[in-house]
This record gives sequence, structure tokens and C-alpha cells, in this order.
Amino acid sequence: MWDEDGTPSEWAEAARFSTALIGEHEWEGHWIGYRPDGGDSNGFRSRWHPVNADAEEWVQVDLGDNAEIDRVELHPTEPLDGPTTPDGLPVSAQFTEEVKSEKRVTADGPGGFGFPERYRIEVSNDPDFAQSTTVIDCTDEAHHNPGVEAVTFDLDSIDGRYVRVTATDLHEIDPSDPSGGEFNQKLAYIGEERRAWQTFALAGLTVRDGDGEDLAVDKDVTASSSVEEGAWGRDKLVDGHYESRMAPQSPLLRTDVDLGGEVERAQAHFCGLGYGELYINGERIGDEVLNPGWTQYDERVLYSTYDVAEQLDAGANALGLWLGQGWFGRNARGWTGFGSPRAILQLEIEYVDGTTRTVSTDGSWTAMNSPLLMNDLYDGETYDSREESKGWAEPAFDDVGWDSVVIVEAPGGDLVPQRTPPIRVTETVDVEEVLGRDEGPILDFGQNLVGWVEITINDADAGDEIELRHAEVLLEDGSLALEDLRSADATDTYIAKGDRTETYEPRFTYHGFRYVQVVGYPDELDPADVTAKVVHSDVEPIAEFDCSNEDLSQLQRNAEWGLRGNVHSVLTDCPQRDERCGWTGDNHIVSPALCYNFDAARFYEKWMGDHADVRSEHGYLADTIPYGYGTIPEDPTWGITQVTIPWHLYRHYGDVGVLEDHYEGMRQYIDYWHEQSTDGIIPDEYGNYGDWLGFENMDGRVGLPRDLFNTAFQYHTTNLFAQIAAVLGNENDAEHYTDRAVAIAEAFNEAFFDAEADQYGPGTQASYAVPLFFGLVPDGHVDAVADNLVEKVESDDGKLQTGFLGTRPLILTLVDHGHAETAYEVVSQPDRPGWVYMVRQGATTMWERWDSDTRIGDGMNSFNHSPFNLVSEWFYYALAGLRFDDSMHGHGTVEVAPAVVDDLDWAAAEMETVNGEFASRWERTDNGLTLDVEIPWNTTATVRIPYDGESATVEIDDVAVWENGAVGSLPDGVDDATAGDEEVVLTVGSGSYGFDIEH
Ligand code: BGC
Repeated sequence: MWDEDGTPSEWAEAARFSTALIGEHEWEGHWIGYRPDGGDSNGFRSRWHPVNADAEEWVQVDLGDNAEIDRVELHPTEPLDGPTTPDGLPVSAQFTEEVKSEKRVTADGPGGFGFPERYRIEVSNDPDFAQSTTVIDCTDEAHHNPGVEAVTFDLDSIDGRYVRVTATDLHEIDPSDPSGGEFNQKLAYIGEERRAWQTFALAGLTVRDGDGEDLAVDKDVTASSSVEEGAWGRDKLVDGHYESRMAPQSPLLRTDVDLGGEVERAQAHFCGLGYGELYINGERIGDEVLNPGWTQYDERVLYSTYDVAEQLDAGANALGLWLGQGWFGRNARGWTGFGSPRAILQLEIEYVDGTTRTVSTDGSWTAMNSPLLMNDLYDGETYDSREESKGWAEPAFDDVGWDSVVIVEAPGGDLVPQRTPPIRVTETVDVEEVLGRDEGPILDFGQNLVGWVEITINDADAGDEIELRHAEVLLEDGSLALEDLRSADATDTYIAKGDRTETYEPRFTYHGFRYVQVVGYPDELDPADVTAKVVHSDVEPIAEFDCSNEDLSQLQRNAEWGLRGNVHSVLTDCPQRDERCGWTGDNHIVSPALCYNFDAARFYEKWMGDHADVRSEHGYLADTIPYGYGTIPEDPTWGITQVTIPWHLYRHYGDVGVLEDHYEGMRQYIDYWHEQSTDGIIPDEYGNYGDWLGFENMDGRVGLPRDLFNTAFQYHTTNLFAQIAAVLGNENDAEHYTDRAVAIAEAFNEAFFDAEADQYGPGTQASYAVPLFFGLVPDGHVDAVADNLVEKVESDDGKLQTGFLGTRPLILTLVDHGHAETAYEVVSQPDRPGWVYMVRQGATTMWERWDSDTRIGDGMNSFNHSPFNLVSEWFYYALAGLRFDDSMHGHGTVEVAPAVVDDLDWAAAEMETVNGEFASRWERTDNGLTLDVEIPWNTTATVRIPYDGESATVEIDDVAVWENGAVGSLPDGVDDATAGDEEVVLTVGSGSYGFDIEH
């Protein structure tokens, strides 16, 4: 650098940077896991056959010698890693309620998978079975699938060396069977060929002699065909286990490394699935928890990188990995995962002398079970502290008695650096009140929150079990309301080792709760010994909103808690019951509220990657992303996230890259749904949920009419895509999709609009609000339709009747069409259904249903559900008037248009944008209003000042910029002033402005 005299400065110190591992080829290590006793095992399976092929398959065991055979048992499989047919149909998805109730599917998974319909069992002395005796013949008629029950045959004692089971009619997976559940019904229209397939599978084959001994254990198995990968294999048929089973779900893996020199720099690249923690010389590296983020693991897995030079010694070092199940290993209750925990680590070392060395996971590592006897996202953990291996990640540790690790299959997905904000403990909350109960005290934290508790236990005896049970609400009798967690146990159990003081907190699970009941605590519990830890993706809060209505202030706080609690590497529907998925619908409803309150740029960048991973080549998505529950293809009113989320990221954060990256994906998505439409309308049966959980025009939980919503949302995405195409300069696409949107609008209005009555569909709040909000109403009818909506709302006593789809359009479109007072009434009125009702019932987060309070115990009833947090968007957009109508990309364009509603004295919001602060605060004065705004740098704003009558003046620093219905003198920064409908519209540049409005 040179100064003004041309004198050069000293050289700056050299800066350096390094990158993550670029590409798969840079990974030198292997994925390793702990697989004692055969590891993950489904059992034996034959290859797939297209159905109707008259296929037979057999499997046989060689007992080694001739033996007396008295009994044969066939043990059904219950595969644990979600097999799919060759056409990609997940097997578990084809089980109907009916099949489930027949117990062919157990509560834990698809039991009875591959069990033959018809079969025979033969015994022979000859491996080719040229001569054999058929001891069991079940080939004459179809036999009932036994689910998980073993099928046992007692024989007249027979001598033989080989036992063969021949399936003459294989188990069938038929995606076209409409009785095969909602998933199959959808397959009927997705326009893909998904054939029926057959296979033959068994978890175990037992051959017993007269003493009951299993002669088949560990003997040679041959088969007509056999799948030898993952948890399938011939040997697993006779490994002495008779059920499909998983390897330990929380192993510790370790190795010792003598570095033999001083380390200058070192980076550890690490991925442990489902969750993993890295330790060096006993020290935990990084502060992430529940890491890495959840992805479609067979498409993409995220790894973390740490600078670890400080933790490494010149001599002996130990590396330790502690793994948990996470979403990757979950295999319970209809959920099939990817397999047992596994990890990969690569440590890149640069010595002081400039030489380098790489240490990575390989077969030389050792492994042992951790003290976690059980860990599950829904159920909680059981931690037996007596099983702790003290110092296991330190160099002096003696790992005699530990087993070797096994090199295991990679999860399948690309290893990609994790850029999304990791999950962390971000706050702690103390106990507010202790409620005495016979079984153990219930601790009330005063806030429905997401995470877990840390507890200190004094003077326990070794083996004492202390249980922490979680719930969001209490029943009338004061006990925990557990029904609404459905099958989630949400219980952490600590087994004490008997030290004077012991401290425990879980590591591979999380809960949504306000109350924790502590059962089995020795002596009296001091509430100061229990602290709740708030756990979520560490998205940065960037904004604040407040106003003079206390109920609304509380709602905003509830929304902040609700949004935080539901960002867990994907934005979940809810954090407590057996669900917690990235439901697409919930996301498009609440993502603008998330983008207002938090920096969600990287968070959603990752989720859009998840979309790309899940999206089929035909363009459709899944209801939940990564796929967990719901249907494939998705409900067309749910999966619009493919288009809307990149659009919000572009507007709020100026991220044009996300539009580019997902442009073709958006096109495929829109085109797919376009192809499904008939005369421009997407028929009812394509939608699953409609205006879910509303109060009007309901069929159970589904708000009708679905075809109206399906088509309106398709119009919206088509229209948005045309805008996105224009932003990216793709004029042809912009024109093409605009034309298509116009055609959809015509078809929509043809089908649903009664121009005479200015009514849409059944004339419900949602059926008016949705077309109005998306701009579907023909010119000349807009005001009349808006008036009809207002009239409808007033006839409903100013209360909303809408559910998931209609509520956001309702309150926003009322404001956009000059009915802010009506919108305010809807938001602030205190009765059910409405937000303030929740607040006054003591809610500290948003309920799933407007009447959740009356449905405790109903099962599907969350008290911390994402969608209705959308009200926070309305606070920023409507009351404070901070709007991203255009983008913050390049030179930003924003709008400040506060709705100065009668009931409020003031409202204020401020937020940090990519261009700096954006804020607005208005307050009533004796004769008017003050409005203070802050416009970010490199940004132009349109400021809309409510203006009442000709005599009003608008002043800045006592100088009138608007007076007597005309422009006054414009100070620096104010470029233009015009009068609109009951407003003065100013165009201003970056900076702070204080307006005085006098009436
Ligand atoms: C979830 C929702 C989701 C819905 C689909 C529910 O079980 O919790 O929030 O959008 O299913 O209707």
C-alpha cells in the first residue's frame, strides 16, 4: 500500500486459506463401523423377478454330515434398511392399513417381506437334489404371510445332509394395486412404469435334531440366486440369529497415532452417521450437536471440517469417534433407515518442518459399545454410566478387550462440506416451578422449548435409574399429556454409577417440551440441578418486531420460539411427536417468516439441495424432504417450495445463485404438474391435504375444494417461474411461462369463478383469499372479490376459518387490497379460532390446530407447530411495513408501507439485511403520526405514508415534503413524492428519515 506521498507501507503478513476436500478422490480413508456378531442383518434374499415369470428360487443348507432332522423353522425377514424394487419403489410403502392390521407389517417394519406364498421343503443326501424327499409341501395353495412369526414344521424324523427350501410362488410387491395405500394410488397417475416384482427372502432357516439343537448354524448355504450386499447375504440365513437385526447403535471408535513431530497446522474432515462426535486426546472437537445435518444419505452426506493443530501433541495422540443412530439408522415404526452407524475421518497434518501426513479411518481402528444402551430421535436415550470407558479417547487408554472395527459400505451419497448452520445449544432455561407428583416432580420451564435437560444427581447408588419424561402440556389431573407424542417415548434414562455427584445430558436425541417429570431421583430434587438446553440449527436472529398490543408482542415471541425450535437442519413440522420431518407445505407457509426473523440463507440453500436429491427425473418431489413420510409425488399444494423458497432467498438476501442452481429443477417441477392437469385444472385426487386443519368446508382434516387450491398454487409457481426467468435474463422462458400462467388463470376462472356474484368456488374465506393473493382475479373484479372476502370474514365474526393453505393468503391479501383493519381484526381478535386465543390460553409457541386446546390426547395435536408462525411475517410486512417486493440483489429495492391500524399506538421493526439496517417505527402523536425509517445502503425504497385528507402535511426535520395536496421541498435523499390512494408515496435512497405527519 502507498500513502499520499507515494511511500510504500510494510508488507502485510501473508494470509492463507485452505479448502475443504474437493471431490471424492481426495478422501483416502474408509467408512468404518462396529459390527460385532454379524453386524446389520436382514437375512437371505434372492434376486428380483418381474411378476408372472413363473419364477422359482431356492436356498439350501449343507449340514456337513448326515443327521436326523426333526424340525425345520422358517424365519421371516423384517428388513431394516428400506429395500426398494428395481423400479425404486420403497417396499414399506406398499403395505396397506389392512396388511398392517394383519400384522404382515409389525409396528417396527415390513415383517414378512419376501416370505413365499407357496413353497416346499426337501431333504437330500445330494447337493443337487437329484434325489430328494419332500418333507413339507405348501405348493398347492397360497399361504398366509406370517408377518414376523416363525413358521415351524415338526417332521417325522428323517436322515439327510442337505435341506432345501424352494419358493414356487414368490412374494410380490405390486405398486399398481390400488389397495396398496395412498402411495400406490399415486403411482397410478405418475406416468411411470412401475412394475410388480417378486422375491424370496428369509431371515433365518433352522434345522433341528431330536434334542432341539440347530444343526444349520454357520453351515454352508447355497442358493439359486442371492443378493450379497449391505445387510443381505446367504451366510446371514444361518448365523444363529433368527430375526433381522441391527448392529449396536452407539459405538465408540478409536485409534492411537504417534505423530513424531511438532504440528504446525492440522485439519480434521469428519462425518459420523447418523450423528457423530469427534474427540482428540480426550477433548471434544467443535460445539455442534446432532451433527451432521439430515440429508437423503444415499444422495448426499455432509461432513464438517475442524482446525485441530492445537489439540494434537508432537508424540502420542488418540482419536475417538462417538456415533449415534440419528435419522440414518432409524428403523422403527414404519421408518426404514440406511443401516447402522458409520464414520469417515481424514486428518491432514502439516508439520513445522513443512512435511505432511494424512491419518484416516481404516480397519486398524478398534471399537466398543458406548454407555448409550439406546438412542433414538423420538424415544430418547438410555445411558448406563456404569458402562463408561474412562479415558477412551486419550492416548494412555488400554483398548484390550475392544474389537476391531469393520470397513463398511459408504452410505452412497456424495460427501459434501456442511455449509448450513450446525445445530448447537444456543441458550439455557431454568426451572420456573416444581409441581409435586407421587411418581416424581414435574418441572415446569415456563416455555415450550426444543432440546433437552441437563441434570445433576447427587448421592445415587450404582444402578439407580433416573428417568426424564418430556411433555408439552399437562392433562387436567396434572399429569403429563403423552398421547399427542403418539409413539415417541420422549424419555431419557440415566443409570447411575454411584459417584457422589453425577451430571448427565443426552447427546443423540431431542425433545419438544415445557414439562419434564423426573422419576427415580434419589432424595429431594433441587430444581437448580436441572437446566433445559435449547437446541436448534444456529440460524442467526436478524430482526425484531414489537408493537403496542401486548398480545401481539407475545405472539411474536411465541413465533420466534416456534421457528427456532423447528429448525433442525431441515425446517420441521413439529419437534415433539413421532414426525419432525421437512414437510414441504409447512415450509412454504412459514419460510417468509423464517427469512424475516433469521438469516436462513445457508439453511435453505442446504434444503434446496435436498430437493434436488429427492426430485424424480420426472420433476415431482415428495411431501417430506428428505423423504420420511407422506406421499410421492407430493401434494401439488405442498411441494411448491421448489419454486417459492429460492424466490424468497433471492428477495430477502439477494441470492441470485440459488435461482440459477435450481432453475432447471423448478422447470421440471412445474412442467410435471402442468402435464398432470386436465384442461388447465389439477383435479382433486392429486391433492392430499387441501386447506389442512381449517374450520370451513372440511372433509375431516382436509379443507376443500382441492382442485381449486391445486390449480391456484400451480398458477402461482408458474407465474413465479416466469419472473425468475426474467431475472435471469431468459426472455423466452419468461414469455413462455407467462403465457402458460395466463392460460391457467383463464382455465381457473372458467372453472371456479362466478363473475356475476364475484365469487370463487364455495365462497369460503380460503376460496376468495387464495386467488386474490396469487393475482388470479380478472381485471375489473378485484375490488369486488376483495369486498366479498371482507364480507365473508365479517359474517364469520371477524374470525379466520382457514387452515394451512388459506391463512397466509387471507391476512396478507386483505392488507394488499386496502383492508388492513379487517386483517388486523382477524389477527388480534381474542376468540377461537385465532392466534390471540392461543396466547390467552397461555401458549408459548404456536399450536398445530386452532382448537388444539380442546383436542389434548387426540394424537395429531402439536403445541409447537410451524405453519401458524406465519403471523410473524405479517407483523413485519403489514404492521411495520418492511417489504421485499423486489430483491436485495445488487442495488436493492424495498418498500416501507406500514398499516397504521386504529387499535395500535405504535409498531416497530428493524432487521439486518445484506445491505445493512432496514427499519421502521411509527407512533401516533396528538395530531398525527411519526414515522422513522432506516433504508439500507445501496438500496432504494418506496415509502408509503398513510395520509388522511388534503390538509395533511408530511415533514422531514420541520420541512414539508408534502403539503396542501402537493409536493413541498424535497431534502437530499428524497427523490420523488406523489399522492396515491390515501397515501403519499416517496422515493428515497439509503439513510435515516424521520417523517412527521400532521392531520
Ligand atoms: C404434519 C403437518 C403436515 C401434514 C400433512 C402432518 O402430520 O405434522 O404439518 O403438513 O401432516 O398434512
